[in-house]
Amino acid sequence: MSRKRRSPGRGGAGRAIPAKGRKASSVRWLQRQARDPYVAEARRRGYPSRAAFKLAELDDRFRFLGPGRRVVDLGAAPGGWSRIAAERVRAGTGGGRVVAVDVSEMAPPAGVRAVQGDIRDAATAAAVAEALGGAADVVLSDMAAPATGHAATDHLRVLALCEEAFALACQVLAPGGAFVAKVLQGGTEHRLLARIKRRFATVRHAKPPSSRSESAETYVVALGFRADSAPADGDNG
Ligand SMILES: C[S@@+](CC[C@H](N)C(=O)[O-])C[C@H]1O[C@@H](n2cnc3c(N)ncnc32)[C@H](O)[C@@H]1O
Repeated sequence: MSRKRRSPGRGGAGRAIPAKGRKASSVRWLQRQARDPYVAEARRRGYPSRAAFKLAELDDRFRFLGPGRRVVDLGAAPGGWSRIAAERVRAGTGGGRVVAVDVSEMAPPAGVRAVQGDIRDAATAAAVAEALGGAADVVLSDMAAPATGHAATDHLRVLALCEEAFALACQVLAPGGAFVAKVLQGGTEHRLLARIKRRFATVRHAKPPSSRSESAETYVVALGFRADSAPADGDNG
């Protein structure tokens, strides 16, 4: 997506979803999808997911993707973020590189290298390092475990994934690099946030307009990685 193109606004027209034979929750989900202008626009542009707009909007605001940069995209399937990252760093043709990591199999967008595995496994981290072929400029994480519906449990799971992503970011980022990760509202847990702040010059929380208002997700955006700062107590990096 070009930076000049605008994200679709909310409030698209819906279409009727026949309820017959479907659970009420499925009908609600289908109705929401049918009404969602981001879903329609993602389909029109051939994006693998509507999530693509979240990364585009975060980058429009914070400008961490640029031609020639090396990006690791954690929790990449089905590939919306990788597609945006590949376009903006000019993966392949323009010298940029995008390594997409997910436990699920995915068809990587053009120019993207896919690593299938759990980021908590050492073998996955090694495969990422090999695919990167050098230090990363940006580590992204949109990782999410399947929702349990129990808010406290879901919060802890997303937080644990954010911690894993932060640990990997500390291993692979070049000085000055960026780390962008999904957390749940309430923001990043105090101790993790303090550790992130020690390693980055600026840290913000941002909820892009395409992130559904009823969703608790938000993103921590950390810029200016300090590779040489001494690891503090309990710092994985
Ligand atoms: C919300 S989806 C990501 C959507 C993606 N950013 C996009 O734009 O299409 C979250 C992904 O995180 C992945 N995931 C969750 N835990 C993971 C882990 N431990 N290691 C790797 N991937 C993980 C899931 O398999 C899922 O595909």
